[in-house]
Amino acid sequence: MNYRHAYHAGNFADVLKHAVTAAILLRMRARPKPMCYLESHAGAGVYRLDAPEARRSREADGGILRMIPVAPHSDALAAYLQVIAALPENQAALLAYPGSPLLAAGLLGDEDRVVLTEAVPEEADALRRLFRHDERVAVHCRDGWEALGALLPPTPRRGLLLIDPPYEAADDFRKVAAGLALARRRWPVGVLSAWYPIKDRRTLRPFHRELEEAGLGGVLRVELSVRPDDNPVSLNGSGMVIASPPWGLEQDLRELVDELGESLRESAPPRCLVDWVVVPATEPR
Ligand SMILES: C[S@@+](CC[C@H](N)C(=O)[O-])C[C@H]1O[C@@H](n2cnc3c(N)ncnc32)[C@H](O)[C@@H]1O
Repeated sequence: MNYRHAYHAGNFADVLKHAVTAAILLRMRARPKPMCYLESHAGAGVYRLDAPEARRSREADGGILRMIPVAPHSDALAAYLQVIAALPENQAALLAYPGSPLLAAGLLGDEDRVVLTEAVPEEADALRRLFRHDERVAVHCRDGWEALGALLPPTPRRGLLLIDPPYEAADDFRKVAAGLALARRRWPVGVLSAWYPIKDRRTLRPFHRELEEAGLGGVLRVELSVRPDDNPVSLNGSGMVIASPPWGLEQDLRELVDELGESLRESAPPRCLVDWVVVPATEPR
């Protein structure tokens, strides 16, 4: 496994993933009942933007560094930026970027739980150190695909799953669709989400077809491309699918993705999309 998220932390795709995750958590926390946040591919939890990896890639320049001066309109963007601003390392300047586990922990309450799986021992150790004083958080150093079968359903039963693999392997899209289907079978009431890269959009068709056939219930999709699809640069955009999204999320995401697109766009106008891959049979709760 070669993937190291330290090279990509805070890039435009992280901004979409983390702001959307904030939007989902805000909606779920509107109901005052304990919940569980789970991740199958958690990463290290926090990343230094002055580390050699981030300085070499400079990916945060086109991502979080564009967002910092923005006065947010949407609650989700405001909450996401607030978690970043509150990190102790960021009091004078933006030096640290929170991964999804730290973002989620920052948005959850005292009664909520966080269950994190990370396969690379160094990354899992970093996660354990980060959360050593947070009793809400459990870290498992194990294969995230296998953990979906072993750790679901969680306690408490209400909750959100994020599947965010590196997409290094050719079959990662198929594994995500199968992982979501397995999670749904084991956890019928869970809100299930997954992030995916957009390089050549045609390659997404089989993925969306598999989602349609996976028995997930309603599946909402949000995508943001900052470059045209035929651009030879490897990552042109990214998206997330959310199965059984909370009520109101569709409208939240429309506002959020338009706002992100304005700041993250490159030369051409951004392509922002929110629609249903699978239309829900009943209204989202
Ligand atoms: C895209 S990164 C996760 C980033 C994180 N979700 C965030 O947004 O901050 C993917 C992570 O998955 C880990 N990983 C790769 N294969 C895995 C597997 N089979 N099970 C669990 N983790 C895996 C990698 O080490 C990497 O840290």
